[in-house]
Parts: sequence; structure tokens; C-alpha cells
Amino acid sequence: MSETVAIPHGLPMERDAGPFDPPSQITRLREARPVSPLVFPDGHEGWLVTGYEAVRQLLADTRFSSRQDLGILHLPYETPGMPAATEPSPQVPGLFVAMDPPDHTRLRRKLTGAFTVRRMKQLEEHIVEIAERQLDEMARLTPPVDLVKEFALPVPSLVICELLGVPYEDRENFQVNSAKFLVKDQQLDEKMAAYGAMTTYLAELVTRKRAEPGDDILSDLARHDDLTIEELTGIAFLLLLAGHETTANMLALGTFALLEHPEQLAELRAAPDLLPDAVEELMRYLSVADIFYRYATEDIELGGETIGKGSTVVVSLLAANHDPQRFDHPGTLDIHRRARGHLSFGHGIHQCLGQQLARIEMRAGFDGLLRRFPTLQLAIPAGEVKLRTDMNIYGVHELPVTWTETAR
Ligand code: HEM
Repeated sequence: MSETVAIPHGLPMERDAGPFDPPSQITRLREARPVSPLVFPDGHEGWLVTGYEAVRQLLADTRFSSRQDLGILHLPYETPGMPAATEPSPQVPGLFVAMDPPDHTRLRRKLTGAFTVRRMKQLEEHIVEIAERQLDEMARLTPPVDLVKEFALPVPSLVICELLGVPYEDRENFQVNSAKFLVKDQQLDEKMAAYGAMTTYLAELVTRKRAEPGDDILSDLARHDDLTIEELTGIAFLLLLAGHETTANMLALGTFALLEHPEQLAELRAAPDLLPDAVEELMRYLSVADIFYRYATEDIELGGETIGKGSTVVVSLLAANHDPQRFDHPGTLDIHRRARGHLSFGHGIHQCLGQQLARIEMRAGFDGLLRRFPTLQLAIPAGEVKLRTDMNIYGVHELPVTWTETAR
């Protein structure tokens, strides 16, 4: 398997080895050649990086530009209107995940204070309250219910709305449009329409906040005179999208994974102290945000290969997190594992800004769910759960669950 890999159906590839395992082709590739040549669906050549060490090294090296990553846009390469693969992409104002220093540094710096570990710790109690309230509502329903709709999506949406100062009543706009946005094979015009709908809404919102700032992160940003309305809109878009889709999918797919591993689930129920480690392990094992793009700004040696200047490079965080050279028995979900060091939040200067927030949400969410629903189980056979194989962020579309009794 040392020849060039083709990906006729794009990336991420389908998880054909099971709902939680990496695609079999990716596993074979990592064993044969962890930095390997790749042909994109439009025929142009690049590289796919699957080995843990190589992925980590690449993410720490700013000679690999993020401007090839259309980031959150995840536009397929064959799309008309795309920049040629060898040119850095035009920058979308405010979308700093797809920027390099110094632009990236300037924007990210304005937000680091709002997302420090200390700040997030102060919010913890409130996040627990939000999760518990949502579980109260779920407990009032007659099962079966869809866990995505009743729990996994509302909790992170409520939290990020409150932090940013986005009215939760307006969630229809961003939940529907972000979902459209993340469809893998979405046509460019539909993607742009979804993007347009979200940014039109957010531009009005940040304009109002600039005129009358409140007590929230977007208002704090709007007080910075050196940020334009376009930049504020881009930042709001990035935080809103990144802030709810990823965590929602971790909560839902994580619950599915635990229900499919009853011994691990029973252990976790018996010893909730294991939860922080279990969350890290679920992050590693599931790697819901898998594929990220970079662009080589010069010839760079990586894993014994020379990546030529101008090449597009794709990393698979899922493959890296399942590398047996880094994690023993990577295909086993083991809540006792010290999984810190996984790359699910990325690495280097773009490492996830919201990681502490996401961790708190996941701990509060799983803790409340397992405690309050001791008899939780799937309401359909596991094989019938609709997996998000068609989306750029992996997870489940729906998770029908049932229970016989609830606890306070
Ligand atoms: C960046 C994953 C939750 C905001 C990233 C990156 C990854 C990631 C892998 C790196 C992207 C790259 O290197 O190109 C996740 C996962 C989450 C999660 C798996 C949930 C389990 C959140 C939350 C927020 C957030 C709750 C809320 C604010 C961001 C932002 C960036 C980012 C703003 C860009 C950082 C930069 O470019 O400097 N995330 N994330 N994420 N994430 Fe998260």
C-alpha cells in the first residue's frame, strides 16, 4: 500500500469497520505509510497524514499554513470557484481558524481571556444547572425520545448562546444552517446560502451589541474599536458553530458508545470520579472532528517524506488517536486509560479555544444523564442508529432512547 491513495468520495471516509472505529483504509494506510501521497477528487495531488507523531509534529509547525483549511467551510476541492490548490485561500474576516500569524494571533488574543480555565471553572456550576434543567424536561417526557433533540443538542446550544449573548429563541437559524453547512457533499450554493443566512443574522446582532453592549462575549468584543463588523460577524459565526456542533455530537455519540460498552458504563456509574478520564477517552476513541487541512508554505520533511512547497496536506485526528504506537489497544474503549495527549482538540497555535468549556459541558452532561437515567437504553437495535457518515463532524443524527425509571 505504498502507492498514492485515492479518495473518490472525499473525506472523512465512511467508518466501515464499525460505528466507532476508523475507516479500514485509513488504518491500513497508517500502518503502511503514515505520511502518504493522496489524490483529491478533483485530481490534484496532496498528502494524507495518519500517524500520531507526524500529525502532532505537523500541527505544531506553522510552516504548514491554515489558510488552505477553508476551515469550517470544508469546501470540497472540485468545487468551482475554489482557489487553485497551490495558493493560500482568501481570508474570511474574523474566521481565525483559517488564518496564520499575525492575523490569527491578533484575533485569538482578544478571546483568550474569555476562555481561560479559571473563567470556565467559574461557569461550571451554571453549566451543571443548564444540563440538569434540560434533564428535568427530558424526564417529563414519555419515552422513547430522541436524545439528540432533547439533550445533546440543547445543552451546548444553550451554553454557547448564553456566553455569546445570542438569544436562544433564535436557535432555529443557527442549528438548521450549521447542519446544512456541515453536510459533506453539499453543493457550494447551498453552503453559501446557509452561511449567508447565519452571517446576515449575526451581523445584525453584533451591530446592535456595538451600539448597546450587554454582559456577554460578543458585546465585550464589540467594545474593541479595531474590530470591524465583518470581523465580529466572522468570530461570532466561528464560535457559534464550533461551540455547539462538536460538543453535541460528543454527547450523543458518547452516550451511544457507553450504551454499547455496558461494563464500562456500569463502572462509570459506580465510580463517577472516573468521569474526567472517561471524557478524555471518549474524545480520543470517537474523534468526532477528524479531518483538517493545511498547506505547505515551503518544502518540509515529515515522517521521512518531503512535502513539497504548495502541497495541500490533510490530517486525520481519528487515525492519529488510534495509532498503536501511541495508545495500546487503541480500538478498545477503556475509561481507565490516561488518554490525555489525544489530539481531538488539535495541537499547536490553533488548538481548540473552547476545550475547557467542552470538557465541563461533557462532564456535566454525562454525569447528569447517567445519574438521572439509571435504566437508560437504546430504543432501537444498535445497527439501526443513523450515523452521520454524510457529515463533516461525525456523530448520530438521532439517538432513540428509553428508560423505565428516573432518579433525582
Ligand atoms: C479549534 C475540536 C469544542 C471553539 C478546534 C480544533 C479542533 C477542535 C480539532 C483545531 C482546528 C485546527 O487546528 O484547524 C473541538 C471538539 C470540541 C470542540 C472535538 C467538542 C468536543 C469547542 C467549543 C468551542 C470551540 C465548545 C466554543 C467556543 C473553537 C475555536 C477554534 C477551535 C474558536 C479555533 C481556534 C484557533 O484557530 O485558534 N476545535 N472543539 N470548540 N475550536 Fe473547538
